[in-house]
Amino acid sequence: MKLYRAKDYYDMSRKAANIISAQIIMKPNCVLGLATGSTPVGAYKQLIEWYNKGDLDFSRVKTANLDEYKGLTRDNDQSYYHFMKQNLFMHVNIDETNTHIPDGMESDTEKEAARYEEILRNLGGIDLQILGLGHNGHIGFNEPSDIFPKDTHIVDLQESTIEANKRFFESADQVPRQAYTMGIGTIIRAKKILLMVSGEDKAEILYNALCGPVTPKVPASILQLHPDVIIVADEAALSKWE
Ligand code: F6R
Repeated sequence: MKLYRAKDYYDMSRKAANIISAQIIMKPNCVLGLATGSTPVGAYKQLIEWYNKGDLDFSRVKTANLDEYKGLTRDNDQSYYHFMKQNLFMHVNIDETNTHIPDGMESDTEKEAARYEEILRNLGGIDLQILGLGHNGHIGFNEPSDIFPKDTHIVDLQESTIEANKRFFESADQVPRQAYTMGIGTIIRAKKILLMVSGEDKAEILYNALCGPVTPKVPASILQLHPDVIIVADEAALSKWE
């Protein structure tokens, strides 16, 4: 596990973007596992800037997102599909047919979970998986639980996650109660993992995840067992460390 300290959110975003762009340069047809939420937005912005300067080419890059809310159409402005479009895809030369996100409108949950796992298999696995960290230790939408879920599946979102995500909706009532997510097994099958963490509100859970016991009660703690994890965290997120 490699830990890179960043001064603040901006610095974390640039360091993370450097790691992502190195991946794209070293393997132009790489498969990136993507996250949504506030954490990676700055890194995506930086990648767009480098693309505009002619330093990055997304034409052969393939992507697979971690998760999607169930019941939101692609054009709903809170869907993760919409998020990816706004924050990355529409600004770079990625081929949309190379981008994959679970289909939130598929009501047959087993069928959708199996379809998504098959897409990931057909892609040949994820080269670099980008992750943010939930306040309860979730990665993707794998909430604290008694087990580490293996594959893509449907989850009931916990109250704390609904609370945290309601800022993007008009009210908490509008936050979907379920989501499709890659499983913990899916995530740790990625060859390399980049965990980005910013802010003092994440300091305690980051410390527990990386220094506490490996337990499904803190889903991100599984990262301690992965052979190639890079953590880029800012000083505020690392404030429990010393
Ligand atoms: C998003 C995702 C989530 C977020 C986490 C942190 O695709 O899978 O696990 O990474 O909830 O969210 P932010 O970055 O908004 O604090």
